[in-house]
Amino acid sequence: MNKKRYLLKMTVAMVLAGASALPVQAQDVVKIGLILPMTGPFASTGRQVEAAARLYMAQHGTTVAGKKIELIVKDDTNVADMTKRLAQELVVNDKVAVLAGFGLTPLALSTAPIATQAKVPMVVMAAATAMITEQSPYIVRSGFTLPQVTLGIGKWAPQNGIKRVVTLVSDYGPGIDAQNSFKKVFTESGGEVVQELRVPVRNPDFAPFLQRVRDAKPDAVFVFVPSGVGSVFMKQFAERGLDKAGIKLIGTGDVTDDDILNDMGNVALGVVTSMHYSAALDNPANKSYVAGMAKANNGLRPNFHSVGGYDGMHLIYKALEATKGDTNGDKLVAAMKGLKWDSPRGPVMLDPETREMVQNVYITKVERVNGGLYNVPFDKIEAVKDPAKIK
Ligand code: PHB
Repeated sequence: MNKKRYLLKMTVAMVLAGASALPVQAQDVVKIGLILPMTGPFASTGRQVEAAARLYMAQHGTTVAGKKIELIVKDDTNVADMTKRLAQELVVNDKVAVLAGFGLTPLALSTAPIATQAKVPMVVMAAATAMITEQSPYIVRSGFTLPQVTLGIGKWAPQNGIKRVVTLVSDYGPGIDAQNSFKKVFTESGGEVVQELRVPVRNPDFAPFLQRVRDAKPDAVFVFVPSGVGSVFMKQFAERGLDKAGIKLIGTGDVTDDDILNDMGNVALGVVTSMHYSAALDNPANKSYVAGMAKANNGLRPNFHSVGGYDGMHLIYKALEATKGDTNGDKLVAAMKGLKWDSPRGPVMLDPETREMVQNVYITKVERVNGGLYNVPFDKIEAVKDPAKIK
């Protein structure tokens, strides 16, 4: 055979091999597009959620209902237009069956119309403003809402001698949710909110706001800052001497985020918060989760956002099993509704009406355990629905 004929024969053989392999592959692969902030100030959210999603796949295998699961991770750099563009590309070019991730509220909101138009399920793993799930019938949330977790501390505080509070929140969706929910529950339980402060989200300087808190002399300051910002807040809280002035710090668990808590030092000791997850939760699923995350990621301690990633993968896997691998978006969302399981955070259910998690809310206190700082749970409210959607 001369060289030219040989090359031609090889080319035809390769084209044929490719042609027969391609459709089979396309049918047998289910792609999940995971869009997260992997760089910038909220990179810890991306790192936590991706690590948890990968751990879930390592533990449960990468074949579901005869299909190979492929995770495509994209960095939106915390820019909402980028999240939307990446989602569009993942749907149109990569033909993903599910969009997932979404580290902050504006990033999730920008993508909701894509999910609706493409009829692709959108699993919100981290962003936590209550109204997100109302933006598309294809959105399900595997994380939490701020009103849901705020309820715990709002009830606990007035029963424990905290009667006058200043609230201080990041000035966007989840902060405003936290501020309004806290005021409602706290005042219904006999407390009084004496001032409500909102701090810009970008490059926050808490000092002038903390001075106003000091001047108001409340029993406590209630705080919401997004995951990752807690250390800056805690440092300025100590520098302004609020702890020395006898002003307690309470909040949702976002401020004492497990990812950064251990580096905050003694100023964090005794801080009481409420949240749906703590790395210190004492249940078998969590023990193995914490050990698995640490082992696979160089000692990483999982935070509350990570369980949104882990349980979001569970929703996707179980839905695919139920549809026997059918990736029709309506069928997948229908199969997710009402699912119940034992998560590292405790027993959970995806509320079929609201597409939100029904879950325990834990009241925790920062303590030193075996040399490290932890949010140690001491009380819980069971099976909490998102109160923002209870009519
Ligand atoms: C949000 O933007 O929805 C968000 C981000 C970080 C949190 C909570 C909520 O810790």
